[in-house]
Amino acid sequence: MSARGYAEVRSLSHHVGEEVTVAGWLESVRVHAKVSFCVVRDGTGVVQCVLPRNEVDEEAWETAVELTQESSLEVTGRVKEDARAPGGYELVVRDLRVLGPSHDYPVQPKEHGVDFLMDHRHLWLRSTSQRAVLKVRSEVTQAIHDYFHREGFTRIDTPILTGAIGESAGTLFSTDYFGETAYLAQTGQLYVEAACPAFRKVYCFGPTFRAEKSKTRRHLTEFWMVEPEVAFADSDDNMRLQEAFVSYLVERALDRCSEELKILERDTSRLESVRPPFPRMSYSDAVERLQGQGSEMEWGKDLGGADETTLAQEHDLPLFVHDYPKEAKAFYMKENPEDPRTVRCNDLLAPEGYGEIIGGSQREDDVQKLEARIREEGLPEEAYGWYLDLRRYGTFVHSGFGLGVERTVAWITGRPHVRELIPFPRLMNRLHP
Ligand code: 4AD
Ligand code: MG
Repeated sequence: MSARGYAEVRSLSHHVGEEVTVAGWLESVRVHAKVSFCVVRDGTGVVQCVLPRNEVDEEAWETAVELTQESSLEVTGRVKEDARAPGGYELVVRDLRVLGPSHDYPVQPKEHGVDFLMDHRHLWLRSTSQRAVLKVRSEVTQAIHDYFHREGFTRIDTPILTGAIGESAGTLFSTDYFGETAYLAQTGQLYVEAACPAFRKVYCFGPTFRAEKSKTRRHLTEFWMVEPEVAFADSDDNMRLQEAFVSYLVERALDRCSEELKILERDTSRLESVRPPFPRMSYSDAVERLQGQGSEMEWGKDLGGADETTLAQEHDLPLFVHDYPKEAKAFYMKENPEDPRTVRCNDLLAPEGYGEIIGGSQREDDVQKLEARIREEGLPEEAYGWYLDLRRYGTFVHSGFGLGVERTVAWITGRPHVRELIPFPRLMNRLHP
């Protein structure tokens, strides 16, 4: 029961035979001579309300006949079990009252163009498919916290306004900060690295920002990333953590979001086989394979979206590609002692063409090598003094990774474009609503 005494639709099973009052929004109404049906969504579920003409009072009948889509309303009636009704219960109405009318609701139950839907994102959220994807997102983000909490990680909240470039200079949002330049965080990584000697296993989870000038279905300018960091873990340990973690997220979604995945018509058979170990391939082998298939890919370049899809399509499980060339990756990655042209890092590519869901690496723990990399990349050295301190005062082997929430949930729900996986997407050409 809510404060106002409204019953929640999801718990109508506890009230069979009783009279309850439900408050929600009108999804649809059907009027016949002797009976009307209206479908009400209260956010916890959807219930069919039946109005037998000779049992409800005339005013309630008239109100029902004139109901319009998305009006908010209050319905009082008796709860009846009915296997045919959505959710298994219906409400036999005694009284019905409009709380807030809704005229000419723009999002109709028909096909709309995507620009129209994105312009009406604030209303589109109410639709069945969008409720299902956001419910899965909510479950996955909860699962992220549960996993790291269970594994003994300490959560570290990292700053959004930062003075040092986290990833690369190419995709920065900057703002004036009392005469200095501040950047919106591209990552929380450098800060979780600092928290490692305090807590050993840490993670941050929050929004990150990249001024991506690409209009692909995998890029947002604001996206959510979870970034664990572990002391005394090398690149192999890091990949083992990733496969266990990703398998847990998939299992949680399958376990607790089966209704939503059904609504989204997700074929879950391949998701069901997601468990460790995931296949691994070195970057060099990946390049050879791509070249063998006629790709123009050259050793030294980062993999493009199409290359990633080609490689990942050969597998049912997510695929690790590891040990990329230094020049293709960020400055902080550990030089590979066996092949100094490469760094000890990995990307994790989702199957079925959903692209890179994780980027991870062992971190450079040698202060001189790290200084040299910062210089080579042309990064402002003075902003990294504190970061280098971590190598000056008790340096340690450590690794971590970042998992992008929207791409991961796109894969799990089978939605092709990341814009649906975040309530209010920010894209190169979209700041509203
Ligand atoms: O590979 P990235 O850039 O890695 C980092 O930011 C590291 N600092 C992480 C770490 O080691 N702590 O980004 C990690 C993931 C990608 O694999 C992808 O899933 C997601 O973040 N991502 C994006 N998602 C949506 N839109 C974008 N523009 C994204 N850029 C990265
Ligand atoms: Mg990456």
